Amino acid sequence: MKILVIGSTGRTGKHVLAQGIERGHEISAFARRPELLGGRAGLAGVHQGDAHDVAAVREAVAGQDAVIAAVGGSRIARTLITAMRDGGVSRLVMTSSRSVPATRPRLAVTLAWLFFHTAYADLARAEGMLEVSGLDWTIARATMLNDKPGAGRVHVDFEANATGGAMQLSRADYAMALLDAVEDPTLIGRAEGICGPK
Ligand SMILES: NC(=O)c1ccc[n+]([C@@H]2O[C@H](COP(=O)([O-])OP(=O)(O)OC[C@H]3O[C@@H](n4cnc5c(N)ncnc54)[C@H](OP(=O)(O)O)[C@@H]3O)[C@@H](O)[C@H]2O)c1
Repeated sequence: MKILVIGSTGRTGKHVLAQGIERGHEISAFARRPELLGGRAGLAGVHQGDAHDVAAVREAVAGQDAVIAAVGGSRIARTLITAMRDGGVSRLVMTSSRSVPATRPRLAVTLAWLFFHTAYADLARAEGMLEVSGLDWTIARATMLNDKPGAGRVHVDFEANATGGAMQLSRADYAMALLDAVEDPTLIGRAEGICGPK
């Protein structure tokens, strides 16, 4: 597939680039600071711009089969929805957090919302926008991320509260799950929760 990666210089995004190329996809990177990509070999394209800029995103999205947003948020969701509709590109996988719908474990969720209220409220808004966007969206809600080596396995469910797996998820495994999602049409219109493997 021809896949555009937003957030490509990020800690998850860089794994999406590397693993996507390894899987044989034509991966293009969108970045505010493409110099951080370090001239990554194997990329099909590099687009410089801000993901809040509809014109820049519209240009990058043209001709792609799908977009993976390895960064969440309502401003980026709004730009992508506009640019992808304009360009006739419908498949979008976007990151979010398990904390958005979670109610358990009660203390941990309450504390997390206390500290990260603004970020979670914005991710909830982004999710709502995707759900009524008319795009072929998948929301990939991660648990707590770390930079440990990937295990090559994740726990996936479709519940508000995690049904198993570990509270920590490596960004390498999160990237794997984002690529699994973009390749899987049965996940269109679904929000998946992703935890680390037990
Ligand atoms: N951190 C967690 O524990 C956690 C938990 C659950 C879910 N998540 C989800 O996972 C996502 C990825 O997390 P991460 O820690 O891997 O992210 P990260 O390392 O902070 O990377 C974010 C990336 O997004 C880019 N970006 C941000 N705003 C942009 C804009 N307006 N235009 C273009 N690029 C922009 C950043 O580019 P610059 O270098 O230019 O800033 C960077 O490349 C989060 O956004 C969130 O939705 C995170």
